[in-house]
Amino acid sequence: MKKSDGKKIKDKIAVFISGRGSNLRSIIKYSNKKKSSYKVELVISNKKNAKGLLLAKKKAIKNCSIDFTESKKLTDIVLNLLKKNHIKLVCLAGFMKILPVYFIKSFKGKIINIHPSLLPKYKGLNTHKRVINNSEKFTGCTVHFVNKFLDSGKIIIQKKVRIKKDDNPKSIEKKVLKIEHKIYPQAICEVLSTL
Ligand code: GRF
Repeated sequence: MKKSDGKKIKDKIAVFISGRGSNLRSIIKYSNKKKSSYKVELVISNKKNAKGLLLAKKKAIKNCSIDFTESKKLTDIVLNLLKKNHIKLVCLAGFMKILPVYFIKSFKGKIINIHPSLLPKYKGLNTHKRVINNSEKFTGCTVHFVNKFLDSGKIIIQKKVRIKKDDNPKSIEKKVLKIEHKIYPQAICEVLSTL
C-alpha cells in the first residue's frame, strides 16, 4: 500500500528484548533505510532496566516492560497491545523468556527469533563456550520462526562464521554479533514479504 505522497507504507513490527539491545539497534537502523519494508512500532522488554529500552525511548519508539508469566491475563494484555498497534511481526532479539504456548498459538507464524549458533546445533544458552569446548571449526547465527519448542522452529536465514585457533567465547560473540546485525533486518523483510 502507498501513502498519498507515493511512499510505501511500512509494515509495523514489535521487538521483544531483555538486555543490551544491540540487535534492536541494528533493526532500527535498517528500518530508516528506504529499502526497508518495516518500521519498529513497539519495543517490549520483560526487564524494567533493559538497556535496549533506553534506546527505544531515545528513538521515540513506543515501549514498555511487561513481566511475562504464564498468566493468561498478561498474555492477553500483550496480544491486545500488538493488535492495537497493528503489529504484523514480533521479533525476539535477546528476549530471555520462554513465551507462553497460548501466545505463540495466538500469533502463529508471526514470531521470529535470532539465535547465536548454527541451529539445530547448540540450542539454548552459552553457545559460544560450548562451541569452543567442542573444538568446532565453524559457528554462526540463525534467524528462525518460533514454535513451542526451544530454538526449534523453521530456519529463515543462517550464516556461518569460521572459528580460529586463538578464538575464545568473547571473540566469537563479537564476530557472530556482527553477522547477526546484518542478517536479522534481512530476515525481517523476507518474512514480511510472505505475510
Ligand atoms: C544475541 O546474541 C542473540 O542472538 C541472542 O541474545 C543476544 C542478544 O544480544 N538471542 P543483544 O541484546 O541484541 O545485544
